[in-house]
Amino acid sequence: MKNRDTRPPPTAIRGPVLTFTGNPFTHGVEKTAVYEPDAIVAMADGRITDFGPAQIVGRRLPAGTEVKNYGRDSLISAGFIDSHVHFPQTPMIAAYSEQLLDWLTDYAFPTELKYADKEFARSVARVFLRENLRNGITTACVYCTVHPQSAEALFEEAEALGLRLAAGKVLMDRNAPAALLDTPKTGYDDSKALIAKWHGRGRLMYAVTPRFAPTSSREQLEAAGALCREHPECYLQTHISENKNEIAWVKELFPERNGYLDVYDHYSLCRPRAIFGHGIYLSDEEMQVMHRTGSAIAHCPTSNFFLGSGCFNIGRAVRHDRPVRTGIGTDVGGGTSFSILATLNSAYSAAQSNSYRLSARHAYYLATRGTAHAMYLEDRIGSIAAGMEADIVVLDMKSTPLIEYRMQFAESFEEALFIQMTLGDDRAVQATYVAGELRYARDSAQITAS
Ligand code: GUN
Ligand code: ZN
Repeated sequence: MKNRDTRPPPTAIRGPVLTFTGNPFTHGVEKTAVYEPDAIVAMADGRITDFGPAQIVGRRLPAGTEVKNYGRDSLISAGFIDSHVHFPQTPMIAAYSEQLLDWLTDYAFPTELKYADKEFARSVARVFLRENLRNGITTACVYCTVHPQSAEALFEEAEALGLRLAAGKVLMDRNAPAALLDTPKTGYDDSKALIAKWHGRGRLMYAVTPRFAPTSSREQLEAAGALCREHPECYLQTHISENKNEIAWVKELFPERNGYLDVYDHYSLCRPRAIFGHGIYLSDEEMQVMHRTGSAIAHCPTSNFFLGSGCFNIGRAVRHDRPVRTGIGTDVGGGTSFSILATLNSAYSAAQSNSYRLSARHAYYLATRGTAHAMYLEDRIGSIAAGMEADIVVLDMKSTPLIEYRMQFAESFEEALFIQMTLGDDRAVQATYVAGELRYARDSAQITAS
């Protein structure tokens, strides 16, 4: 009998493409940004198999390739990446509150209590992943709650969609409601079991997740450090230097340490694949430690504005003499939007407040390859090139009447790009491909799991 090839036929998409071959902050935008006004991106078996000018690639596509042409008013990019987000906070996004510590007590913690129920967690995970896809986000680094079943539910739902995703159960053994506390031992054991089950399963990855220094005892930070040592391939995610009252509290709780980052560094949590949310008030010395240890910052500007935390100075983070890996994060529910375009808009405003001008191409780098670099994933995701995983977002450059009107006056591609990140939101996302599969198409509003 003949061996029938049951694989789906190769697919390809056509339209303008923006991608990056390197880091424009360190190597300049002209050397690293690639704009191809009429390109074809071919995909098979979850990967990009070809990319280049349509005239050239079109001639060498395998027979039977279906080419979907998105047209001149679209923009094809690597899928967006969110380096810091709390899926359990989806039901309380947009909570009217005081700043961080009150917001946590009054809104985040009460909501997180509900995740003892795995089916509730699953229902939220579905909404959360739907919102990611609606916003062109194809990879995220996600906080769950203290309940291991919250992580189970998210991993199961992400697996059904074929998403590359990192997540972890929160470690928290003090300064929170009793029902949200684990212990150094149960937190360690539960994390260990989740790592064994999920890390490296398909596209899923585990992140050891001590929430932040104030909610973990020394013993728990010690246990988190042990998990990191035992699983160097896993992520470590936590918060740092987000809010002035938080920083003062850490000083009180850890008087023996030489600052907030030193708490984490002492417990061996500063390392490659460590992602620290916010970092607004990191000192120059702390930035130097971040650089030296290969740690990354997740810059979450909509959250920083919403919670009144402050304005992160991205210019300081990317300084040439000691660049710190920097990604972009929505930080929902502290953040106010799942839209990476809206997040870039806020990143631009935060940079302006620090007299730093964030160009549109630098911002798109942050949303794609830059955040992949922060997560040590730039060899797999974050750019359009043969061999990369086929996670792709297709933007509509005329998604609202105002944007369409404004675009008439755009005199350059850079300007058109800036208009999108300033005025655009989820409506600009026309299609989202995950590992080569069309998972979201705006005009038919379908989310399809295999
Ligand atoms: N710090 C500790 N927990 C949180 C959280 O859930 N959100 C934000 N924005 N900051 C935190
Ligand atoms: Zn956060």
